[in-house]
Amino acid sequence: MVTSKIVATGAGIPSQIITNDDLAKIMDTSDEWIRQRTGIGERHISGGEDLSYYTAQAARQIIERAGITPEDVELIIVATVTADYCTPSAACMVQKAVGAVNAVAFDVTAACSGFLYGVSVADKFIRCGVYKNALVIGGEILSKIVDWKDRSTCVLFGDGAAGVLLERSETEEGILIEELGSKGDMYEVLTARKLVPSNAFNQVEAQTECGHVTMDGREVFKFATKKIVSGVNKVLETAGLSAEDITYFVPHQANLRIVEVASRKLKIPMDRFYINIEHYGNTSAASIPIALNEMNEKGLLKKGDKIILCGFGGGLTWGTLLVQW
Ligand code: COA
Repeated sequence: MVTSKIVATGAGIPSQIITNDDLAKIMDTSDEWIRQRTGIGERHISGGEDLSYYTAQAARQIIERAGITPEDVELIIVATVTADYCTPSAACMVQKAVGAVNAVAFDVTAACSGFLYGVSVADKFIRCGVYKNALVIGGEILSKIVDWKDRSTCVLFGDGAAGVLLERSETEEGILIEELGSKGDMYEVLTARKLVPSNAFNQVEAQTECGHVTMDGREVFKFATKKIVSGVNKVLETAGLSAEDITYFVPHQANLRIVEVASRKLKIPMDRFYINIEHYGNTSAASIPIALNEMNEKGLLKKGDKIILCGFGGGLTWGTLLVQW
């Protein structure tokens, strides 16, 4: 039985911290409103560096901790909606930054579910025997696409990058079960960066600035709680496990209240969910790997522990993975 297992984690996080009080100085909001509605206290915001700076930091740390050389890396996948360019991919920029000259590199786009989709794709390449390892990074500079005049969205998001190295394993461990899903008919609920098809031969008004994040917060909230609950139940059922067999549930960190509702519905106590949203806000594709890296650095994950990662986001998309550490 060939599986892929996580052998190292790493992150690249902007050093600039913007608190809720900092936001209240430039817009009509308050620490109290943001904390009560979301659980967010502060977020890391790029000081001007673009995504490639932070994904490179994460990649270097992962490679070093895995004890391999850049030349050993066979596949690089970056999950993002905020790459520096439309092309090249963020993954090709990681390849150049770390000197992973032998790797195949491309991006996946599934918004906040992106890291889980990236891990799923890498897992298939490894299980099929095509590659022996894969660097999978989720990273976002959301601060460049939020509308800083829209207090209902800009206070929610943060910047950062983090990821894992997956390696081929001959034993049953690592990525065990997955449940991914998409609901394109709801795409308008959460969009960003619409590109206008303006050209020299039509009347479409030229785009003056990139389209910002727009969101129907209540619809996303309902969708997110539903998908965490159904995803966790489905994965547990497929694995023949109960919630007690899981050491930690690691949800996408979008809103503390979303996790609280899911926790009540699943009858799984909140202390079994790893939560760090207070310090990062919603970093989209980076949120689950940032949490995983933090847990790893704190020594919370022991060999053999089973954890469930669950994400949801634009698309709409969702994903739940059962992982054995
Ligand atoms: N500070 C102060 N007041 C704010 C505010 C802010 N930052 N943002 C919005 N408000 C105001 C609104 O203008 C509104 O005022 P009104 O009643 O006078 O019109 C009031 O607060 C309530 O706004 P509403 O949008 O109904 O709040 P909510 O309780 O639905 O919470 C979200 C809004 C965005 C926090 C919530 O819907 C949410 O988290 N949804 C999920 C979003 C998400 O996770 N997206 C990413 C998924 S990957």
